[in-house]
Amino acid sequence: MDSTPLRSRITGTGSALPDKILTNADLERMVDTNDEWITSRTGIKQRRIASEGEFTSTFAVLAARRALEMANCSPEDVDLIVLGTATPDFPFPSTACIVQHEIGARNAAAFDVSAACSGFLYGLSIADKYIRSGAAKKTLVIGAEVLSRIVDWSDRNTCILFGDGAGAAVVEAAHGDGNNALLSTHIFSNGSCWELLYQPGCGSRNPASNSQTLDEKLFYIKMEGNDVFKHAVRAMEDACTAALDANHLAPNDISLFIPHQANRRIIDAVSKRLAMPTEKVFVNLHNYGNTSAASVPIALDEAYRSGVIKSDDLIMMAAFGGGFTYSSALIRW
Ligand code: UT7
Repeated sequence: MDSTPLRSRITGTGSALPDKILTNADLERMVDTNDEWITSRTGIKQRRIASEGEFTSTFAVLAARRALEMANCSPEDVDLIVLGTATPDFPFPSTACIVQHEIGARNAAAFDVSAACSGFLYGLSIADKYIRSGAAKKTLVIGAEVLSRIVDWSDRNTCILFGDGAGAAVVEAAHGDGNNALLSTHIFSNGSCWELLYQPGCGSRNPASNSQTLDEKLFYIKMEGNDVFKHAVRAMEDACTAALDANHLAPNDISLFIPHQANRRIIDAVSKRLAMPTEKVFVNLHNYGNTSAASVPIALDEAYRSGVIKSDDLIMMAAFGGGFTYSSALIRW
């Protein structure tokens, strides 16, 4: 029997996006905005939007199947599904349970994690703890969103930012330092800022059935963009520093940095503070906008499948979102 400690390995990744594309030119026809403003302030050129009949679980299931296929893992062998989302199919049951049923992972425990844009890295951290303790062997971690259903399409401050989609990873137990080893995860929260980014309606404070919820449109995302921006930069830097310190690494050691894709200016500011050269920073938000919990796993899957990630690369991921929550993870690929 191998006596080296149990480690998590990422053995498969997958992602899924709606076919429907909404460009900045399309948004120019919907609100008082223009391509130049959106591009220079955010870096976003287009985003994918779910069509009627497509839900968060639709994309989560597709992403999960692709990750399982890459990992050569049968759904029946999965013993844990953790799904990060701010836009579940229903308040309950969890979208993770719907995914469990759809993919036939009948031996898995399944639950959602509410950590907004940090949902995938929070889920990865939970899966890693289960694996290191020996409580799970094969896990599926998913970040999935259909934000377009809670975006106010008449509010130019927010509607230009968000997109829909899902990303997933199969995380398996292994002994020793094999390939694709998850070296560390770090998760943090700062609940004092919860009112800067939230969905006021449809919970127990402002139920969906309240006339106030309808009259004041409390079911839409509310965000203090400027404040969120400043917190995001500092928090993602802190999360990355925690990951680097825990592994006795310097920014220079990192092969690829995959930050949460919220705003190009946030990504550039974090990279600058970490002295991370642009060519080591993975960016795809021009195509998808901010997909919240889905952004990091979609980027990881795209980076891997497009050949950007090579064997032995050190990959650092970081996220920030409503709560506030912030997080990081390091992988030796
Ligand atoms: O996933 C994590 C959570 N979210 C984020 O990380 C988002 C963080 N925040 C941001 O990305 C940025 O704050 C925004 C992109 C949302 C806004 O950029 P900004 O540089 O902070 O702009 P601002 O809010 O300071 O607005 C500047 C001006 C304002 O006009 P006045 O008051 O200066 O006349 C806005 O009304 O730009 C105006 N503006 C727009 N103009 C054209 C705001 N939205 C738009 C728009 N098109 N879509």
